[in-house]
Amino acid sequence: MHVHSYEKIWLALGLGLILLLIGSVTYGAVGPGVSMVAADQPTVDPTALDEDDRFAEPRVEQVGENEYEAYVVAYQFGFEPDPIVIPANSTVTFMVTSRDVTHGFEVVGTNANTMVIPGEVSTLTVETGGPTEYGVICNEYCGAAHHGMEATIEVVP
Ligand code: CUA
Repeated sequence: MHVHSYEKIWLALGLGLILLLIGSVTYGAVGPGVSMVAADQPTVDPTALDEDDRFAEPRVEQVGENEYEAYVVAYQFGFEPDPIVIPANSTVTFMVTSRDVTHGFEVVGTNANTMVIPGEVSTLTVETGGPTEYGVICNEYCGAAHHGMEATIEVVP
């Protein structure tokens, strides 16, 4: 079969586009430093958080050699603990729940982002890079002070 040269150009362009698309799907969502690698959503009783091992005392706990779990409670209008202090170059699973209304948990400048729904535990696992600081914001409208609802993540050596 004979292919005209301009058709070859379109073929090449089409192939290039496909590769670009695959590239953006594979790499596009990964932010600098902290990147989300998994997410899932078990349940919890939002009226009994103080009887829950994880959320009675929101905190960061070491669960493996280089693995940590961060138990975070979102509320009108903040996050607990704040700051959330996690170690550099480790795997951290955030378990985030709400004790009142639906909130968001977005680590600014990364792809770590989840809705936080009362009764559910939003679980997201990230890999941390070197020491730095991130802002956390609520990206679901949750009331009068929604826009001021934020926290800090400190990635420490
Ligand atoms: Cu919490 Cu908006």
